[in-house]
Amino acid sequence: MSTTISRQKFLRYTASAGAAVLLSSLESWAVATPQKKLRVAVIGCGSVSNRYIPHLQTSPMIEIVSLCDIKYDRAVNQNNQYNVNARTYPDIDAMLRGVPFDMMITLTDMQVHGELNKKALMAGKHVWSEKPMANTYAEGKALFDLAKSKKLRIWGAPAVVNSPQFEFMSKTIQEGKLGRVSSAHGQYGHTGPNWSAFFYEKLGGSMPDLGVYNIATLTGLLGPARSVTAMLSIVNPERTVDDKGKIKVEAEDNAHILMMHDKNVISHVMCGFCYFDPHGHEATNQTLHSIQIYGDYGNMRLIGYDWETNGVMLDTSWTEPPKLVSTDKGGYVWQEGATRVGESVLKGTEPRINTEHALHVLEVIEAARKSQQTGMRIKLKSKFPWPIV
Ligand SMILES: NC(=O)c1ccc[n+]([C@@H]2O[C@H](COP(=O)([O-])OP(=O)(O)OC[C@H]3O[C@@H](n4cnc5c(N)ncnc54)[C@H](O)[C@@H]3O)[C@@H](O)[C@H]2O)c1
Repeated sequence: MSTTISRQKFLRYTASAGAAVLLSSLESWAVATPQKKLRVAVIGCGSVSNRYIPHLQTSPMIEIVSLCDIKYDRAVNQNNQYNVNARTYPDIDAMLRGVPFDMMITLTDMQVHGELNKKALMAGKHVWSEKPMANTYAEGKALFDLAKSKKLRIWGAPAVVNSPQFEFMSKTIQEGKLGRVSSAHGQYGHTGPNWSAFFYEKLGGSMPDLGVYNIATLTGLLGPARSVTAMLSIVNPERTVDDKGKIKVEAEDNAHILMMHDKNVISHVMCGFCYFDPHGHEATNQTLHSIQIYGDYGNMRLIGYDWETNGVMLDTSWTEPPKLVSTDKGGYVWQEGATRVGESVLKGTEPRINTEHALHVLEVIEAARKSQQTGMRIKLKSKFPWPIV
């Protein structure tokens, strides 16, 4: 998954090439940092931290040194529950003044990711952020530029490009096995989280929480979107959630997003918090497909979700039935992003997950909101290195 050169090879290479070698920020960070483990701080010790903390603990290259939550008992509880042996903090400022660390992992309410990520970068920390990495494309791009100016790195979830199924689908398209690709569809929904209000508050919604996976997959497979048209709606205007009781829903719980890519390829994403799915929020053992790609010589469907992949159904024959292929997950799990980029930071290698791709996905989400407000088709300006595989 990691590309470029290993830390050892890199050290040998730079020693021979001398000062003429232009170091990338990761490579130079790895060279300047002799420690054997990357020290990480997790901010936000709610639901998703139950997936991140154990996964981070599987890596011999990573040590969780700090846990932080404004609901302080959550930081303490996670420290005890997972035997982390970290320092615990009730807010980011205290954490940044506390024990030193190298990378912050942001797992808080979506709306505060941007401000927390900025504070971490300003304090000289790398950042892995759950989606979205900021509330707007402009805010995210400013974080990316800030990181570059400080020779730091920031990445945003999701990690869907890491799955072997994404790789298989991308290669199948790139090798022309589907012929000329014209259309694609992605869908992801369930009946919505019931633990926190932020999912339904302004700048929350089903797009940054759920659609973000399909938008990352479809732009990852088909290339950057050039324009977006969308319809968003609120189907359930009131919800009852654990942290605030009865609330008014302010962000879309139903979204249909159309993207125009290069070469007149059109894709569509449908996501919502009001979709019956007996596989629920966990979505395990899903046997139906969630992504479809159509060309004039073949089509393929991703079985399961792009974040919880179960194989690819490939159909390229007029006579043979479609075949289920690429069923090996190769160890991929959706919560691996922070672990993988953290390992890359330590090794000085470039991970497949790309920040400009996450920013592009954020611009698509923002454009979809604008399209809903204005009834207009919205042009996009961002790009990312493509093809990814
Ligand atoms: N829950 C999941 O299964 C899941 C899966 C994938 C991604 N995510 C993403 O993870 C993020 C968190 O979701 P969640 O379900 O864990 O939410 P959650 O409400 O369970 O947890 C969020 C935690 O962040 C804390 N927090 C809020 N503001 C804070 C601040 N300023 N400083 C420190 N702590 C703060 C809250 O007190 C809370 O404990 C979201 O971006 C969500 O989209 C969640």
